[in-house]
Amino acid sequence: MPKKLDLTENLEKYIIDHSEALTDVQKEIIRYNISLGNHQRLQISVSQAQFLQTLIKISNIKKILEIGSFTGFSALSMALALPFDGFLISLDKSSEFSMQAQSFYEKANEKKIKQIIKPAIESLKELKDSGQKFDLIFIDADKENYLNYYETCIELINKNGLIVIDNVLWHGEVVDETNNDKFTNIIRQFNEHIKKDNRIVKNIIPIGDGLTICIKK
Ligand SMILES: C[S@@+](CC[C@H](N)C(=O)[O-])C[C@H]1O[C@@H](n2cnc3c(N)ncnc32)[C@H](O)[C@@H]1O
Repeated sequence: MPKKLDLTENLEKYIIDHSEALTDVQKEIIRYNISLGNHQRLQISVSQAQFLQTLIKISNIKKILEIGSFTGFSALSMALALPFDGFLISLDKSSEFSMQAQSFYEKANEKKIKQIIKPAIESLKELKDSGQKFDLIFIDADKENYLNYYETCIELINKNGLIVIDNVLWHGEVVDETNNDKFTNIIRQFNEHIKKDNRIVKNIIPIGDGLTICIKK
C-alpha cells in the first residue's frame, strides 16, 4: 500500500492552485465571507466547489437544487459549471444572505440561479407538489433537518441523479467516541441512515468537512 497522504494546509493550497481557477466574483465572495468573521466557516471549501463543478460536468447535469445558499459561493460555483440551458434553484430562509448572494450573481451576470427565500421544508414540499425533479441536489443547511431534507430529496431526484451532502465528517468528530454533543450525534445518525439506505449507492469523499455522494438507483 502506498504511504498515506497527509493533507496539510500547504498541500491543500497547492491542489487548489493547480485545479480549475476561480473567477473574479468567486474570489470576491470568498473575501466578503472572510470579512464576516465567524460566519465565513459556513461556506464550502474551494476544493469542494471545484469537485462539485467536476461532478456537474462529467454527469451532464442540468437541473440543480441547493438547500442552504448563504452568500452564494456554492450556488455560483455550481451554476458556472452548468450548460447554458441548465438551472439551479437555491433555498435559504435568510433574506439578508440571499440579497447578498443575488448581488454576486448579478455581478457575475449569472442568470441560471433562482432563489427561494423561506424555510427549506416549505420550499421542498412545494417543489414536490409541483412534480419538479432534479439531477443534482446539494444539502448544506441546518443539520437538525438533514434527515427530513434527505427523505424529501429522494423523491425529488431523478434516477441516477446525485444527492450530495456536506459536513458528514463534522471536523472529524464523528469518530471521537468521547464526543457526545448534539450535532456530532445528529451527523452520526444521519450517516447511519445513509449507510442502510438501499435506494442509493453512496461514497464519502474526505474533502472540506466531508461530502457524501449518493447516486439514486
Ligand atoms: C452552511 S450555510 C450554506 C453555505 C453555502 N452552501 C456556501 O457554500 O456558501 C447554511 C445556510 O442554511 C441556511 N438555513 C439554515 N436553516 C435553514 C432552514 N430551516 N431553511 C432554509 N435555510 C436554512 C442559513 O441561512 C445558511 O445560509
